[in-house]
Amino acid sequence: MDILKERILQEATVVNAGVLKLDSLLNHGVDPELTMEMGKEFARRFQGRTITKVITVESSGIPVAFATALTLGVPLVFARRKKTLLQDPDDYMERVPSFTKGIVTDLIVSRHLLDENDSVLFIDDIIANGDAAKGLLKIIEQARAKVAGIGIVLEKSFQAGGKTLRELGYEVETLVRISSLEGNSITFE
Ligand code: G4P
Ligand code: NA
Ligand code: NA
Repeated sequence: MDILKERILQEATVVNAGVLKLDSLLNHGVDPELTMEMGKEFARRFQGRTITKVITVESSGIPVAFATALTLGVPLVFARRKKTLLQDPDDYMERVPSFTKGIVTDLIVSRHLLDENDSVLFIDDIIANGDAAKGLLKIIEQARAKVAGIGIVLEKSFQAGGKTLRELGYEVETLVRISSLEGNSITFE
């Protein structure tokens, strides 16, 4: 998505060789029109698939997942990210490490919101090592739901997440791929 590349070049800052700060577009602020374009692009790329729901992880995945769900005309479910001591029997839960926060958190989805009749499109903002994604995929597996595909706005392809998911057999569509943040500059693939 060329418009997205342009906006990233204008608005993102390189924090270090592994992390990009994208507050105005993905992690703190939202451009509604651009976000709707991302949602339409994901809907186009997964055209023809059976999709009963869009699923994401709070919080930064929600706007683009909403835009995708709106375009597809299906509901959106977002996994909650919490630190829990006890698992509620009404929830699916998976513990995952967080790349940026350096802690483990629990991804939680209510059993009432996902079941074996669902075929879900997983949408997220950024993929790094894919830990959050793998956790959410385990929850989808626990629910015996199907995965229609995975759409990620920004893949940092110098980290293993996207590649790992493709090797697991998932159809992964990414809008922008960044192959390097070395030397304080953004290199698109
Ligand atoms: P992974 O699944 O790809 O391994 O990522 P991981 O779980 O380790 O961490 C995912 C979180 O880290 C996500 O936010 C994701 O957006 C964020 N993240 C990963 N790389 C970058 C980066 O280069 N820049 C920024 N800004 N964020 C990055 P989250 O913890 O789920 O929090 P939220 O932002 O959704 O609330
Ligand atoms: Na994030
Ligand atoms: Na996210």
